[in-house]
Parts: sequence; C-alpha cells; structure tokens
Amino acid sequence: MIQAENFIFYQIYPKSFCDSNGDGIGDLAGIQSKIGYLKDLGINAIWLTPCYESPNVDNGYDVANYRKISEEVGGNAAFEKLLHALHENGIKLIVDLVANHTSDQHAWFLEAKKSKDNPYRNYYIWRETPPNDWQSLFGGSAWEYDERTKEYYLHSYAVEQPDLNWENPAVRQEIQNIVDYWIKKGVDGFRCDVLDQISKDLHDPNGNGNGPMLHPYIRELFGRNATENIFTVGECWAATADNVKLFCDKDRKELTTVFTFQHLCLSKNKFTTKKPSLKDLCKKMASWQQVTQEAGVYNTSFLENHDQPRSVSRFGNDTSYRYESATLLGGLTLLQRGIPFLFQGQEIGITNSRHDALEAFNDVETLNYFKTNDNLPEAERFANINAVGRDNARRPIPWTAKTEKSWIAPYARSEEINVEKDLRAEKPVFAFYRDLITLRKTNKAISHGTFTLLNLTDEYYAFQREYGEEKITVLCAFERGARIENAYGGAAILNNYSDYAPQELKPYQLIVLK
Ligand code: NOJ
Repeated sequence: MIQAENFIFYQIYPKSFCDSNGDGIGDLAGIQSKIGYLKDLGINAIWLTPCYESPNVDNGYDVANYRKISEEVGGNAAFEKLLHALHENGIKLIVDLVANHTSDQHAWFLEAKKSKDNPYRNYYIWRETPPNDWQSLFGGSAWEYDERTKEYYLHSYAVEQPDLNWENPAVRQEIQNIVDYWIKKGVDGFRCDVLDQISKDLHDPNGNGNGPMLHPYIRELFGRNATENIFTVGECWAATADNVKLFCDKDRKELTTVFTFQHLCLSKNKFTTKKPSLKDLCKKMASWQQVTQEAGVYNTSFLENHDQPRSVSRFGNDTSYRYESATLLGGLTLLQRGIPFLFQGQEIGITNSRHDALEAFNDVETLNYFKTNDNLPEAERFANINAVGRDNARRPIPWTAKTEKSWIAPYARSEEINVEKDLRAEKPVFAFYRDLITLRKTNKAISHGTFTLLNLTDEYYAFQREYGEEKITVLCAFERGARIENAYGGAAILNNYSDYAPQELKPYQLIVLK
C-alpha cells in the first residue's frame, strides 16, 4: 500500500539535467552521477520526464516507442542502471506515461495512415469531416486532414501527436501492457500525461477533457492487483474542487494523487507579462488545501514543472529578493498539505532566462505562439515568451558558471546563479530547501497533519499544521513585508532571514513557529 504522505518528489528533465558525455544532451548517466547531490537535498522520489524514442517535436511527449529509452540519453541499459542505483540509495522512480497521444512516427500511426481498413486505423480518431471545432492546445485546428485516406484525425496537441482512441479496447490493452512492462522493470509508478483527456465526448463544444468514460478507464488501468503498490499521479487540468475526489479517493482505486492547476492559472491568457500576486496564489492554494482535506484526499503541492516559468520570477522577486522569495516559495511547496514536487533547479532559486532571438527558443508551443501572433509587436511577443514560455524550465542546469555546449540556448544568468556558487554561498538556497525537507521528514504535522487557515491578508498568509501533539504555524509575508497586530506564539524553528520580529515581517519572510 502506498504511503503517499511520505513522498518528496524531484522532477528531472533528462535532456537538461546533467550531460555526462559532453554531447550537449543531458543523459541518464548524468542523473546517476548526481545521486549524491539529490540525497544531500533529501528528496526520496524522482519523476523522470519522458525520454523514450521520439522525434522530439514536443520534446519527448511525442513517443515513438514506449518500451525504448532514447539512445540520446543512454538507452534501456542506462535506464536499468539508473533505476538500480536509485533504489540502492532509497530513491523511488516514477516514469511518464504519455497515453493520450503518440508520435505520428509511432508504428501504430504509420500503419493507421496506410488505409481505412488497416487493423491499426481504429487506434486513432478519424472522421470524414471534423465533428467539432476543437482547437489544438498548441494553436490551430485540432483536426488534421490526411490526403492519402481523405479523412481528418484528431490531435489535441501538435499535428505530429495524434490522439489515441481509448474507446478501442485494443488501445486500452496496449497501454496496460506498457504499464506492466515498466512495472516489471521495477519502476515505482507513473506520472500520467493529460490523463483527463483520454475519454472524449466529440459532441462537447467546450473541448476534450473529463469525458464520460474517464473514470472507468482509469480504474481499468490502475485498479488492478498489478498496480496496487504503484504510485500514480494524473495530470488533470480539468480537476476541480467538485470532482477531485473522484480521481484520488483511495476506495475508488484510481490514482494516488493528481496535479491540479487552478493555482497556476491566475490570468485569462497564458502569454502575458502581468505577474499574478502572491496573495492570489496563496488564496487559491489555501482553498485547495481545504477542498482536498475535506474530501479526504491528497493533492500534489508544486509551483514548477517543465511547462511552467520559474516560480521565483513569476511569484517572487528574482533580483533584489531572490534568496528570500525563492526560499519562501520553497516553504509554500514543502510545508502545506499534499505531496510535494520540486522541479530541477528550483532548489537553487533558478530564475527565468531572458533571450531576444528566436533561435534561443525550442518549445513547440512557444514557437507556434510567436509565429501565429504576428499582429503583436515583436518586442511584446518576446517579453511574453520570456515571462511564461516553457523553455524557462528547460534550459540546462548550470552546475558551474561555465556554459557547456547544449541542445538549447543555455540559462542566461549562469554566471551569477549556478549550483557551485549557491552551495558555497553564505546563505545557499539549497541549504534552506534541505532544511525544509528535513523538517517535513521529521515532523508529522507537516507530512501527515491537518491544515488550518489562520489568516490571509494583503500582507501575509498564515496557516497551521497539526498532528496529535505536534503543531506548527507558518507565516509567509508578501512582497512588502507584513505588520502583525497579534503576534503568533511559538519559537521560530525556521526563518529565511537572520532575525525575527513577531509583529514585523520583512519582505518574503518565511517563519515556521513551533
Ligand atoms: C503535458 C506535458 O506536461 C507537456 O509538456 C506536453 O506538451 C503536453 N502534455 C502534451 O503531451
């Protein structure tokens, strides 16, 4: 039985984590060489972003072979070595299951395209005319016309990522076999890409999430004896306060937990330079804390992943208060109720990376946005992609100040912000994250306790966590600092400043009281 509360995840984007052979592409041997670093940080589980064989139109989320790890990162042999080494060091590994779509280079699609009566045709969703006007999440129509067979196929993402037809039992069996293949190899679970899109109601004009068969399909896949001890987290953009329990209530035998996104969708349009306020972020998070607690389920707690800009640039101040805001955001991730997921580099306070030439960008979503919005001035488009584009998360980790050859333009601030420098600093961001993780591991109020909102004002957020006799209070000041009329009691056991005045918090000050 999975003890979800004990997990502290670290997400690795393999191509950009550590390059062991100097070919410009991060690899699995590179990850293995950093196990000591990860153990020192204290995480106990890793989510590995997809690194299967892929033409990399969407950087690995277009899988061409689900059982083959790409040779670029070391192939299956390197994967097995890494898995073994992680397990020897007490670190679990979950892999990405991208099952809403495949690459158009996957053998199933290459067959399906050949003719209408090909046995694989029905693995995908074909129509003579598009039955709706769904848009691809990367821009343009979600239906692509195929000249050879004169039909349209559905692609919720890039044209090169055709959606699988989960109504076909053979498709569901294939996915089950893939899951079982990796379980047999010894993986500890799966992060399930856009899982809430696998069942579709083509008549729903609002798009393709939360279809009628979604829950039966998830249960069929993960409610089996073979998956009983497997950790599963679904990426569920359509999860709401009303339906979150359906995904991860233990008795329903679907998922261990979900990634929900309402706390990160704070503006109407994705591509904007307008920063959401820390207060709005905390408000959303506090309400999700309450919703999931009342539902008796665990959500995930995260601010970054490979699709999001860097949290210190988005919610904090990445110049004059970088240390303070990075550590505060670490506190929000690690001290609230839910299973924490850190993204590589977050632990040293990596910021967004500014670039002013299109060659510096790689992400399909970013490039599509740039090309299709040519009604906007170029400077505005660059500002937008620099603020929220996905490449911010995908630039190689700067282990030192020196930038190495890499598949994507390197992180722009690596001289000023790099692992070596952070670890040697007087106040390393890394050390504060390590302290937060240690606290979470040694204090059941944090890992298992209840959440109570104490206060949320224009100046600060305060909450309490409690388990039996153990109780802690967390104070998080926003950008201007906070005056607190009635000071909270307790001794400060963690503080991202060197001093603490109970009625006067400094900008981005984080205090844990016991
Ligand atoms: C969500 C993944 O996190 C993202 O990177 C990808 O582009 C889409 N799903 C499509 O697979």
